[in-house]
Amino acid sequence: MASVTSLSDSVQQQLASALTATRPEAAGADPLLRRSDRADYQANGILALAKKAKANPRELAAEVVAHITTGDLFKEVEVSGPGFLNITVGDRAITENLAARYADDTGRLGVPQARHPGTTVIDYAQPNVAKEMHVGHLRSAVIGDALRGMLDFTGEKTIGRHHIGDWGTQFGMLIQYLCEHPGELAPAEEVDGEQAMSNLNRVYKASRALFDSDEEFKERARRRVVALQSGDKETLELWQQFVDESKVYFYSVFEKLDMEIRDEEIVGESAYNDGMPETARLLEEMGVAVRSEGALVVFFDEIRGKDDQPVPLIVQKADGGFGYAASDLTAIRNRVSDLHATTLLYVVDVRQSLHFKMVFETARRAGWLNDGVTAHNMGYGTVLGADGKPFKTREGETVRLEDLLDEAVQRAAEVVREKARDLTEEEIQERAAQVGIGAVKYADLSTSPNRDYKFDLDQMVSLNGDTSVYLQYAYARIRSILRKAGEVRPAAHPELDLHEAERALGLHLDAFGDTVFDAAAEYAPHKLTAYLYQLASLYTSFYDKCPVLKAETPQQVENRLFLCDLTARTLHRGMALLGIRTPERL
Ligand code: ARG
Repeated sequence: MASVTSLSDSVQQQLASALTATRPEAAGADPLLRRSDRADYQANGILALAKKAKANPRELAAEVVAHITTGDLFKEVEVSGPGFLNITVGDRAITENLAARYADDTGRLGVPQARHPGTTVIDYAQPNVAKEMHVGHLRSAVIGDALRGMLDFTGEKTIGRHHIGDWGTQFGMLIQYLCEHPGELAPAEEVDGEQAMSNLNRVYKASRALFDSDEEFKERARRRVVALQSGDKETLELWQQFVDESKVYFYSVFEKLDMEIRDEEIVGESAYNDGMPETARLLEEMGVAVRSEGALVVFFDEIRGKDDQPVPLIVQKADGGFGYAASDLTAIRNRVSDLHATTLLYVVDVRQSLHFKMVFETARRAGWLNDGVTAHNMGYGTVLGADGKPFKTREGETVRLEDLLDEAVQRAAEVVREKARDLTEEEIQERAAQVGIGAVKYADLSTSPNRDYKFDLDQMVSLNGDTSVYLQYAYARIRSILRKAGEVRPAAHPELDLHEAERALGLHLDAFGDTVFDAAAEYAPHKLTAYLYQLASLYTSFYDKCPVLKAETPQQVENRLFLCDLTARTLHRGMALLGIRTPERL
């Protein structure tokens, strides 16, 4: 499929050649193009160029204008202020560009893939074995999935890693209990997510109670940790039961979240177990890590805690045990040398940012991270309750992710039912899931990831404002217009003059690909949600001002239907990249 150059890219390119024609030394200079209120685009790159050439900016701008041929693309170019150019694009160019996008039947809307894509290993959706998932895990899953959708769209190769917490001393107690009470966990293939979690909770509570009250059990649990670490067969089999039972639960939650998780990408802490001794040995040999009070640690000049004491990264504890840092360092070696990552992306709570800072710095000193690899922790903020404090239940407990999702779907059902005209009860339930889960995802994605946000269901499922439901309704309304059009098919008519509202919508539609690329490069899903929200708003004003089915001529009806359809497709694609469904009817 032929890809389409966006209007802003075409304008940018032609401005660049006009700049070079005016001043050969300007080759490669950036015209600095942006969307503008005054015209379609404004370029102010001439200002810097004029400074460099010690020329008068206004005169230089006029010279550049003289080198631009006006026509379909540049309908009007005018110097505005010193060194500024205002550019208006012709109606024909807009419609033709959109028509080329419309002709792309791959679903890419004519957006080309990156010329030199890299490989991003993205670490996201990482719950812990034998533990309930909470709102913190929600953010990692939702943001990670959206980033992955956007990166894939740009042509980047992405590999997911769900670094689940499936290893560590806490398993000694659990395994020992299961060993003494066999049959407490049902075979994984016999339980659903809810039963799995309730079994795990029961075992957790019972083993904890024993551990806290019975010194002898405590001792047996400690020996179990040693057995686990030395790879004892029976111990590993019991451990595996916890992992399998937990996965049943994880999958049920991810399914509720309408998110595809691949089994081969669930590679938890335990997977790096065998490589950890080598990681420690190499770090010690290279002198990156040093022995301190028996432990193997890495120090950093700039990282200090209270009393100005240096805070080290602990690679190996004094008792020989390895922890979180050792598994992350070993994972980096694997992701760089075996998976050939060019980018390591971690979608993990911002409260772990110090951990990642130390891990990355250690890996850099060891040469495991070099100039060919970027490592980035996309630390996200906390989910807050209506009171602005970290989200808790009334009893002060962390909120169970599932309860929260169920409630969102329930609220959505009320909204859908109220508006539903021709939907069956079954359809209402299906839409409710799409609307409710979409609402939760959208609310999360539409705030800048590093900020905290309030979990407010009323606001999330509101029909007015920057919500997914608003976008889903916009989509469904367009689909309904297209159905009403019946035999009349959408078709582009580049010869038609466009209404101001059509131009605004058209220019915005054309910017979809550029927006996804920017949002992906900056790991900023909120830039894509903002784009989609604006798209729906521009569509609404287009629809208010420009009759579609009752337009003046048959050509105009077809052309407006074409704008409607392209808007629908763009909304659909954009939402899909974020992991949000767009039902055909609402
Ligand atoms: N399981 C961890 C938690 O729940 C998150 C893991 C993040 N990923 C990593 N590579 N450390 O906090």
